[in-house]
Amino acid sequence: MPPLYQRILLTGANGLVGQALVERLSAEPEVDLLATGRDAKPRFTTGSCGYTPLDITDDDAVRRLFVDFAPSVVINCAAVTKVEDGEANREACWNVNVDAVAALGQRCKVQGARLVQLSTDFVFDGSSGPYDERDRPDPINFYGRSKWASENAVRAAGLRRWTIVRTALGFGTGTNLTRSNFGLWLTERLQQGILTEVCTDQIRTPTYIPDLADGIARAIRLGKNGLYHLAGREIISVFDFARRLAERFDLDPALITPTTTDVLHPDAPRPLRTGLLILKAETELGYKPRALDDALDHFGKRLGLPVSTS
Ligand SMILES: NC(=O)c1ccc[n+]([C@@H]2O[C@H](COP(=O)([O-])OP(=O)(O)OC[C@H]3O[C@@H](n4cnc5c(N)ncnc54)[C@H](OP(=O)(O)O)[C@@H]3O)[C@@H](O)[C@H]2O)c1
Repeated sequence: MPPLYQRILLTGANGLVGQALVERLSAEPEVDLLATGRDAKPRFTTGSCGYTPLDITDDDAVRRLFVDFAPSVVINCAAVTKVEDGEANREACWNVNVDAVAALGQRCKVQGARLVQLSTDFVFDGSSGPYDERDRPDPINFYGRSKWASENAVRAAGLRRWTIVRTALGFGTGTNLTRSNFGLWLTERLQQGILTEVCTDQIRTPTYIPDLADGIARAIRLGKNGLYHLAGREIISVFDFARRLAERFDLDPALITPTTTDVLHPDAPRPLRTGLLILKAETELGYKPRALDDALDHFGKRLGLPVSTS
């Protein structure tokens, strides 16, 4: 069993997943959490923990933080996450998503710390999802390749304690997020009455980010090594997900118009049929993501949206 008391260093804490983890982990009495991000000050407003600026590509700063904080767990949420950015700035993407992860792996090895690395359904080619942990990755865009390489960097680091968590189509709320997410972006557009094209040919397992954060907390508490898929429990097209969201909050579903991936994303291909199967996480971690409608209700409540009664 892992030690009861954990000193957790969180990177990329100002992003969507990072903010949810701050909220989730600062509620745990046996966790000493230090959140880090590129900003001088934290963006998150919920949860309480220490914060210090950190760019994970700055090896010297990472080294100093390991000396000062002596983490028993490092959760790496820092990443280049925009697919188009990854494609346009490949070197910068690789530096953050792969090289910095390999360096974190080496630091964790020396420290004897667990490394928890976030990854994605985009490691798959999308020809035959949904996928479980035994399926073979074969990414089709640069972002996906970098995330698959990040997983391999963790596996190759020789760590005694490591966890890789893949997730898919995350939606949730946060404060001053630099990058929106599909749920927030769509809600804002529908509220403004903007006609919005959404792909019918992308199949996903939409993941409510607080559920993901809970799954990560469970993996750490149980000291689980290896690869886990932590996603939502429903397999659905992005188009149908969009309509569900609209209907749930009495927004106009007619504003959502069908399109296809090749039309919407000509510059960076997307895997079509992904979706992540979560049986292993349910069995080994007791991971219990909400049903999609319950997740939407929780999401809507946080945004102050009225839930439809029809
Ligand atoms: N959300 C999803 O749907 C989803 C799906 C699959 C996998 N994931 C994985 O989950 C992880 C977290 O993603 P997210 O959704 O939270 O993305 P996000 O909201 O874009 O957050 C990523 C964070 O990383 C930070 N960052 C980028 N480069 C950095 C660097 N060199 N040093 C320190 N921080 C850096 C970003 O800071 P700036 O704001 O300053 O750029 C941002 O705060 C990623 O590994 C991603 O691949 C997410």
